[in-house]
Amino acid sequence: MERIIITGGERLKGRVGISGSKNAALPIMAATLLTNGVTTLSNIPRLKDVTTMARVLRTLGAKVEFRERELKIDTTNVDRFLAPYNLVKTMRASFLVFGPLLAKLGRARVSLPGGCAIGSRPVDLHLRGFKELGAEVSMGGGYTQVKRDGLIGAEIYLDFPSVGATENLMMAATLAKGKTTIENAAKEPEIVDLANFLNKMGARIKGAGTDTIRTIGVKELKGTDYSIISDRIEAGTYIIASAITKGDIILEGAKIDHLESLVTKLHEAGVEIKDEEGAIKVKARRRIKAVDVKTMPYPGFPTDMQAQFMALMSITPGMSMITETVFENRFMHVSELLRMGADIKIEGSRAVIKGIRSLSGAPVMATDLRASAALILAGLVAEGKTEISRIYHLDRGYERIVEKLSNLGAKIERVTV
Ligand code: UD1
Repeated sequence: MERIIITGGERLKGRVGISGSKNAALPIMAATLLTNGVTTLSNIPRLKDVTTMARVLRTLGAKVEFRERELKIDTTNVDRFLAPYNLVKTMRASFLVFGPLLAKLGRARVSLPGGCAIGSRPVDLHLRGFKELGAEVSMGGGYTQVKRDGLIGAEIYLDFPSVGATENLMMAATLAKGKTTIENAAKEPEIVDLANFLNKMGARIKGAGTDTIRTIGVKELKGTDYSIISDRIEAGTYIIASAITKGDIILEGAKIDHLESLVTKLHEAGVEIKDEEGAIKVKARRRIKAVDVKTMPYPGFPTDMQAQFMALMSITPGMSMITETVFENRFMHVSELLRMGADIKIEGSRAVIKGIRSLSGAPVMATDLRASAALILAGLVAEGKTEISRIYHLDRGYERIVEKLSNLGAKIERVTV
């Protein structure tokens, strides 16, 4: 079993390169199923979730080759439409092959993702949208299946701007007959990246990044070359690493425009963040103030930064309140932060945090991807040693995090016990 051991107290300093976005790479990989050809993707992060999506694509008949940061995907021989339980259960984003398979092959049978540590996470909005596009969706044996030769453009309204539903439906609509409108669409930068990729393959999508996405279906899409955007959540995590250690870090390759809500909140707290020729500079010399945040769909404060922000607030003098509105059960990190001495109370979807002077190192357990990052951040400032178990969650979404943090001066190691 592997663990991460951190001895807290070092101020982080130096430069860190931000990797390609996991949440952009996964739907874009799924979107290659819409073509019969070869696509080369660059700036691909080397992460467990990316390997899982590669396995899903191979199961469907694609050839997938990794070359450093590049991924060559040949979908010429994709003729299978079953995404099995053993893969989908390890990564919910596997469900994103549903739309492309339906649009391309007219059939899809994909295991229902089920719940996960942060909530029940249904796929009803995806399925309702596919029905609007004329598909007959049925369930059985834990699988969702669908059949339809030729989708027909439709007007779809999402009750909630779900990232995954917007992506799945936008992909399906590229090959549907006529015009599809997705209202109340998610506006995340990863949606825009997916639309840019699809348009480069020959799709006709307008409005990605706004509430309304309009797609005019085309007959076919062609393989292309594409470079993935940088990971705003990884960048946000290193920004907080600098703030929490009173450090001085330069993030290379990060896009500040994608981090507006986080940067605004950190400015309010007194952290200096500057955009300098494509790099983000973060300094936290002054005393930081407690601030409240509420997670919301983009451009609101990202739920994927909530746990990390809480780690920062737990050692910031004053009271702060963090409200989680996107997921129903995303406070699993709280009980672990309490073990490190934090003073946090949960009241429904709110956490009330009373900042304390210092955390103390303790053995803690990672419960999900972003919770693991929060524990690492807490460990960086805690007095003494923090030992984090179940770190496989981290490998899903943070590329070489131990190496990147030790290059910045952290005392951190990965050990096998
Ligand atoms: C994506 C991100 C994830 C991020 C989340 C919210 C990827 C691979 N993952 O997940 O990191 O935390 O966006 O920013 O990009 N919902 C429904 N019915 C549905 C779909 C969603 O009720 O059919 C609900 C979910 O339970 C959740 C909320 O909508 O409460 C947001 O989910 P969604 O935006 O779909 O998140 P994901 O695409 O799963």
